[in-house]
Amino acid sequence: MNSSAVTAPLPTEKLDYSLTGENATRAVEKGLAEAEWYQCPVPPETMRRLLERRDGPAIRDTLIWFALLGGTAYLTGVLWGTWWAVLPYLVYCVLYAQTSDSRWHESGHGTAFKTDWMNRALYEISSFMVKRESTVWRWSHTRHHSDTIIVGRDPEINFPRPADLKGLLLGLFALHPDYWQRLWLHATGRMRADEAVYVPRHEYAKIFWQARLFVLIYLAAIGLSVGLRSWLPVLFICLPNVFGTWLLYVYNLTQHGGLAENVLDHRLNCRTVYMNRVNRFMYWNMNYHVEHHMFPMVPYHALPALHAAVKSDMPPPYPGIWAAWREIFPAIRRQLRDPSYYIKRELPAPQGKAEIPVWRSDAAPDADGWVEAGGNTGLARKSVVRFDHGSRTYAIYRDEDGTLYATDGICTHGKTHLAGGLVIGKQIECPKHNGRFHLHDGSPARPPVCRGLATYPVEHRAGRIFIKLVRVAGETDLHRQKM
Ligand code: FES
Repeated sequence: MNSSAVTAPLPTEKLDYSLTGENATRAVEKGLAEAEWYQCPVPPETMRRLLERRDGPAIRDTLIWFALLGGTAYLTGVLWGTWWAVLPYLVYCVLYAQTSDSRWHESGHGTAFKTDWMNRALYEISSFMVKRESTVWRWSHTRHHSDTIIVGRDPEINFPRPADLKGLLLGLFALHPDYWQRLWLHATGRMRADEAVYVPRHEYAKIFWQARLFVLIYLAAIGLSVGLRSWLPVLFICLPNVFGTWLLYVYNLTQHGGLAENVLDHRLNCRTVYMNRVNRFMYWNMNYHVEHHMFPMVPYHALPALHAAVKSDMPPPYPGIWAAWREIFPAIRRQLRDPSYYIKRELPAPQGKAEIPVWRSDAAPDADGWVEAGGNTGLARKSVVRFDHGSRTYAIYRDEDGTLYATDGICTHGKTHLAGGLVIGKQIECPKHNGRFHLHDGSPARPPVCRGLATYPVEHRAGRIFIKLVRVAGETDLHRQKM
């Protein structure tokens, strides 16, 4: 592979990966928190095509998945009492414990389906199956995307240096006590200190009730087993992760294992690994992991096409799972002795930065606050453009009906230009964490967005678009302009 082993400028002793320790402060001081990340240049027309949301692929794949789960559960029941039942049961376990992970992931981003209630339903079901409390993990994954493999910031670093081998082994069989400890804590109305760093306080009540629901489901399954005098309810609901999580590890640890920490380029801390059709069905194309991290708004079914569009600006992809693991195993072994060691991926020659079009004006607004922003033809339906006036940044949108909207240009959740986002119906989806705002009043429409945007009057006049720079709704100046 086009990668080499290097020693990072990090201390050789064990690093503090906690979100409340010294490295949390250090990451902020070094500008690694909520930072700007490299993006490969993609022509706007290509990106528009890739971003198109569809229901069809995810409905088909979800029906196949549920049919396979139902079929293997049925065969297990029919063959129960013979050793032949082991075979369908082990397949059931993998489909339950591993496949739910990729469904959890994609629906959590809101990109599996076009229809949002389907994303929400799949997210809740698969969260339970993969043993992740849905609300806590929504916020944890948001942080993972903001600060990918930044020590002291990312709560989802699976391979610390040196690796926690005992934890990995327990995790392989879903026996790590962490899940049960957290579930109990939440069910009894408490949060951990590290969770409090990234989960907003207004979510706590929901988390406590979700944990109680999870506990109730486990107790119901045990009660059913006792009542029916059968192991099957417990085997189908409580134990599949013990026997099926191994494949999740085989896939997921290729994502970042052994790669660089504390870099702001996903090409250096993520892997793209070629996989066959069966693996890509199970994993929902998350093997295109560099592409996913760089452009999280692109749905899973468009990731192969995104890969084709950006691969000349990427390190070479790994030809298969085994090729990735042939690199990861020795890296883990070496990191046990030398925690400063990591795998450095070689980058191709720079191809230029991805730029989004910007309308600019320094003209003084008229007596009523109106200023010309740009030409009518420069803003197609279902699109958004950045408009800079003086030192301020706005976003102007046209929805699929042709209606214009204007808001502040920076997402209230992080330092991200909404002009890089996607107009979906009458909402804008932020390109960083897929949070959404209603266009008509700037109010939050989808987490992790919690605070609304300021909105502004906007109109056509003789083929030009004018915006009135007087806020009519939304948030205050204090956090309107963060960049
Ligand atoms: S920066 Fe997180 S949703 Fe916009």
